[in-house]
Amino acid sequence: MAVKASSADNRTRSTVSLCIVIGMCCFFYILGAWQKSGFGKGDSIALEITKRTDCTILPNLSFDTHLAKQARPRDLVSPAKKFKPCPDRYTDYTPCQDQNRAMKFPRENMNYRERHCPPQKEKLHCLIPPPKGYVAPFPWPKSRDYVPFANCPYKSLTVEKAIQNWVQFEGNVFRFPGGGTQFPQGADKYIDQLASVVPIANGTVRTALDTGCGVASWGAYLLKRNVLAMSFAPRDSHEAQVQFALERGVPAVIGVLGTIKLPYPSRAFDMAHCSRCLIPWGANGGIYMMEVDRVLRPGGYWVLSGPPINWKVNYKGWQRTKKDLEAEQNKIEEIADLLCWEKVKEIGEMAIWRKRLNTESCPSRQDESSVQMCDSTNADDVWYKKMKPCVTPIPDVNDPSEVAGGAIKPFPSRLNAVPPRIANGLIPGVSSQAYQKDIKMWKKHVKAYSSVNKYLLTGRYRNIMDMNAGFGGFAAAIESPKSWVMNVVPTISKMSTLGAIYERGLIGIYHDWCEAFSTYPRTYDLIHASGLFTLYKNKCNMEDILLEMDRVLRPEGAVIMRDDVDILTKVNRLALGMKWNTRLVDHEDGPMVREKVLYAVKQYWVGGNQTAAAAA
Ligand SMILES: *[C@@H]1O[C@H](CO)[C@@H](O)[C@H](O)[C@H]1NC(C)=O
Ligand SMILES: *[C@@H]1O[C@H](CO)[C@@H](O)[C@H](O)[C@H]1NC(C)=O
Ligand SMILES: *[C@@H]1O[C@H](CO)[C@@H](O)[C@H](O)[C@H]1NC(C)=O
Repeated sequence: MAVKASSADNRTRSTVSLCIVIGMCCFFYILGAWQKSGFGKGDSIALEITKRTDCTILPNLSFDTHLAKQARPRDLVSPAKKFKPCPDRYTDYTPCQDQNRAMKFPRENMNYRERHCPPQKEKLHCLIPPPKGYVAPFPWPKSRDYVPFANCPYKSLTVEKAIQNWVQFEGNVFRFPGGGTQFPQGADKYIDQLASVVPIANGTVRTALDTGCGVASWGAYLLKRNVLAMSFAPRDSHEAQVQFALERGVPAVIGVLGTIKLPYPSRAFDMAHCSRCLIPWGANGGIYMMEVDRVLRPGGYWVLSGPPINWKVNYKGWQRTKKDLEAEQNKIEEIADLLCWEKVKEIGEMAIWRKRLNTESCPSRQDESSVQMCDSTNADDVWYKKMKPCVTPIPDVNDPSEVAGGAIKPFPSRLNAVPPRIANGLIPGVSSQAYQKDIKMWKKHVKAYSSVNKYLLTGRYRNIMDMNAGFGGFAAAIESPKSWVMNVVPTISKMSTLGAIYERGLIGIYHDWCEAFSTYPRTYDLIHASGLFTLYKNKCNMEDILLEMDRVLRPEGAVIMRDDVDILTKVNRLALGMKWNTRLVDHEDGPMVREKVLYAVKQYWVGGNQTAAAAA
């Protein structure tokens, strides 16, 4: 929230800060002029932005460019320190999913593939180098089908999954024909089949979860049907599946269903999907299906394809015994009954269940002793919490036709409708009016953003992250099929808003920004961070958070940060040492508002023998 400067002290500080702003402005103007667009390897749009967004002339302060040019800019604002590139072997470093650290943890229940982050003293304080030859990904929708080889130089998938048509290597690009282990006829045909049962076409199903997603072709092809899938797969021996997904411009995170709860709120997804995702659904007392049940909205669908479904026909091809497969399917059916899911249909190798709208319409559940209910009072408190073999309760209803937790409008009307969690007062202190105000505020902010960065709404930025998403206002204001937003709700946020974000038909995840995000380097085109550094003040190092942002950001990607002027001034000095070009701009309501906006563009540089790495 913007705080107007009131005391004399604040005013003095603001004035000082404004002077610094002007100083920086000039510095970058000059710097911009020096650098020209000499990097060339990526697209030059981002540099173009830096060049064009020269200096804001701040109102009521006389600003003479010529005078300022004579000043020595480095005296006005200098980097706090210069960060060096890390050694090239870190080019695909994922701090919390590091193979060497993973091997120290038990393989049982995939524990070793879960998040295991480095302790503070093992964190790197250098910049992750992009691989030599890195180029900007193709624009969507071409990126869905083609990924430059230089960006993910691993051919193992093309060899391992060759027969299954996942990915092919053609010259200097990978081509994704849209195949998958379970959909040799292509993802579109598979989704057509699914859509004959699940209401995808009319906007009822908007958010989906793909467990064990491979290269996320399912999610990639659902996008044109206006469904946003959150796909996850572990970082494992099939190198970099999630990295391919993100290079393709498809939402995905590194993740696994192991021993810890999924980083999503309860009652979030309209559909969950697994095609040969290797999760042992029938094992451990049904704990994995119980976790899917937790994150599935009442009335949501669960789709399972591949073994053991339709085993009678396929057991030979799967090289498993009839008995074994039958037992596995029986176990799954048994747990689905326990969860009170309704079996909707089996088509070929695909089975579809539906979670009931409420407990009233679940006859077997009347007798609650048949199933262990979770006693957790907050079903959304999931960060590093162990999964337990219990069923998460859903809100009570007054009559059997009501949807537990509230009915949701089809997309796109749900985007700006009041989410049931807010309408029902489940987010303490947030009224429908406050939510409406939030929508207006973000529309205004985004207008101001796009006047500075006119590429914001053009599709130039496809993978977008909002590090402190609130109610998803930023994502809603820029909503378009040309891009998607990963709405991150920090685990230390005062309000649990992620459930409401899903109710708007947006996707997101919980995260603690004192640790690395579950993604590969260079996977986001634009990062937005509003109030993030204020939130994490005295919680963890500003430097660590900024280095993580640099890791996640693509070369020539952009950052927009909103925060208090004093904080942004510090952020700026660190950002300059990370090869970012920056520009601090006033709040759209004028220079007296303490909240400012810092725009940054990551310069193009790569590891190895590139001269650009030595420059700047
Ligand atoms: C800036 O100048 C305008 C008109 O010259 C005046 O109305 C406004 O109050 C001034 N603002 C500040 C912060 O001094
Ligand atoms: C969408 O389609 C499903 C299945 O045909 C139907 O039950 C549902 O009422 C429809 N919803 C809307 C909003 O039209
Ligand atoms: C870097 O240059 C040196 C010598 O110029 C060469 O031997 C080495 O292979 C190069 N490394 C890479 C990664 O290109």
